Amino acid sequence: MIIAIDGPAASGKGTLGKRLAEHFGLSHLDTGLLYRAVAKAVLDAGRELSDRDYAAQAATRIDPKHFSAALKSHAIGEAASVVSAYPAVRDALFKLQQDFAATPPGAVLDGRDIGTVICPQADVKIFVTASPEARARRRYLELCGQGQDVTETAILDDILRRDERDRSRAVAPLIAADDATMLDTTHLDVEAAFAAALKLVEQRVSPRG
Ligand code: DC
Repeated sequence: MIIAIDGPAASGKGTLGKRLAEHFGLSHLDTGLLYRAVAKAVLDAGRELSDRDYAAQAATRIDPKHFSAALKSHAIGEAASVVSAYPAVRDALFKLQQDFAATPPGAVLDGRDIGTVICPQADVKIFVTASPEARARRRYLELCGQGQDVTETAILDDILRRDERDRSRAVAPLIAADDATMLDTTHLDVEAAFAAALKLVEQRVSPRG
């Protein structure tokens, strides 16, 4: 079984992906980490984020087995949004994601273009949304918990800018697949969101669903 979860920054898709994968005994790939790793490689090499060629080369060397906690920072998320708009970066990461999904027993992948580009054949597609304010609040609390020095207003601004960039890029923009089911988590806590997602998956995969 392949479950595709897409949605904007801090919508809760990563947590849902992890929980669904655990529940169904599937592998889980947070594909945002791939783009974050590319952005970090560019910055670590002292290059500009506008260096498309270097970003594309870096994307060919990404290995999810060696991801570090540093990828989770707010700044790297912003940088990832920039490099992820480069078609050559997306091409370089395409096969890795498809191979991951195709490996038995199946997988949950979360990102922006999983249901539309990476796994259009997914058994279940969920598009997770939440209001920008709710997402900013969650991300703020998460980053504060990691000891990062951030303000909620700045996070909301960044989220709105990132939404716009991710939605308006020419290649593989953030958009719900036609056959995706929408899940709005604005008023749902982690447990309620998981219960709702589980119901969606069970409805989709049950013979009577
Ligand atoms: O989900 P995230 O915040 O870790 O993602 C970081 C950035 O990576 C996001 O702003 C856009 C990009 N991304 C993408 O373009 N396609 C994906 N499948 C996942 C993430």
